[in-house]
Amino acid sequence: MEKREHFSSRLGFILISAGCAIGLGNVWRFPYITGKYGGAAFVLVYLLFLVILGLPIMVMEFAVGRASQKSAAKSFHVLEPAGSKWHITGYLAILGNYMLMMFYTTVAGWMIYYVYKMIRGEFSGLTPDEVGGIFVGMLADPKAMTFWMLVIVLLCFGICSLGLQKGVERITKVMMSFLIVILVVLCVRSITLEGAAEGIRFYLIPDFGKMIENGVGEAIYAAMGQAFFTLSLGIGAMAIFGSYISKEHRLTGESLNICLLDTAIAFMSGLVIFPACFAFGVDPGEGPGLVFVTLPNIFNQMAGGRIFGTLFFIFMTFAAMSTVIAVFENILSFSIDLWGWDRKKAVLVNGLLIIVLSLPCVLGFNVLSNIQPLGAGSTIQDLEDFIISNNLLPIGSLLYLLFCTRKSGWGWNNFIAEADSGKGIKFPQWARFYVSYILPVIIIFILFMGYWQKFFA
Ligand code: ALA
Repeated sequence: MEKREHFSSRLGFILISAGCAIGLGNVWRFPYITGKYGGAAFVLVYLLFLVILGLPIMVMEFAVGRASQKSAAKSFHVLEPAGSKWHITGYLAILGNYMLMMFYTTVAGWMIYYVYKMIRGEFSGLTPDEVGGIFVGMLADPKAMTFWMLVIVLLCFGICSLGLQKGVERITKVMMSFLIVILVVLCVRSITLEGAAEGIRFYLIPDFGKMIENGVGEAIYAAMGQAFFTLSLGIGAMAIFGSYISKEHRLTGESLNICLLDTAIAFMSGLVIFPACFAFGVDPGEGPGLVFVTLPNIFNQMAGGRIFGTLFFIFMTFAAMSTVIAVFENILSFSIDLWGWDRKKAVLVNGLLIIVLSLPCVLGFNVLSNIQPLGAGSTIQDLEDFIISNNLLPIGSLLYLLFCTRKSGWGWNNFIAEADSGKGIKFPQWARFYVSYILPVIIIFILFMGYWQKFFA
């Protein structure tokens, strides 16, 4: 069995965990959901969920990972009381990591494809219809989509194959640093565009009337889903990074840093997208096509648009890749923890597996587009997103929560001792009642409300 590697630095831990959190959720999903539910009012609800729901669960995941020194596949076996069944949560977590990658690799492939197209100037001079046509054409082309999905899978597993410190930590640190610099440049460009003020207003001044119009229940449900998704909570994806750190720092402070970084990036992505949309008269409620259909049009109309467009899609690609690498690291660890494989074998087997598992999503847009699992017009990707975002993430989070607060699980005392080991901010004692009794009810309530709206309303 391989010796368990640890991160070489605290910065490495924070940037990689933030990299796992920062992804398509921040730069693709957050802006279009915000656009759909009416802007700033939705952002407020989402921020509230991050604090009352995301933060405590992240601390719990890190605590389970650090105390067990294992990935989610084995951590429950190590910490659960003898004879109990909590380790089933670990199998759900494994399923969740694979399921997330089943559609994530495809969308990450779109991003890198757009970098290629932007660099070649293929959008220059096109009409909005023609720009839209490129996106539609890509979805209809299974070969191109498979090719770019393969590029992502091979690149990211290649990085993971170099090891935790030499591969995952070293490359993610560089990518995250570039990502932040590119984002700042794009932000400055966008908010200084003529006509940007309208977009800033839409994004930052809450209009609850608009939210009520679009359905408050639906917005709350979407905000909860987004809070879980953006922090990758409930599938142990974060927990593993707890298993790679020492007990020098308390976990609440570390989680707070990661949440703040994640929120800052999502917030700034909105600051790039909304002012630009309003400056060029584009509807921000476009939906998932927002960044692929609307933004290239904006770059077309902007001075230096090809450069900014290329930077934008490099930024998107880095964000997506940092998550893919982090989740692949989890997936590799499952095989290493469960069967004692070495990293090379784990990379080869899982690499092939992920390629095969990514195909239904790719083909769901073309060859298999007659499969519309969630109603007319829906795709296999929608089903995979629904299974993960609205089921595995919240249910997994609930199980972590119960495991850390119930006597029948790992229990509050063990959890708090682990979370509070080291220097930094303590997990507040007063929050015990809240996380033990109120938070589980909130999650269950919203979970069922979501099912109700999806299937019966
Ligand atoms: N946390 C990841 C993201 O936001 C899944 O994309």
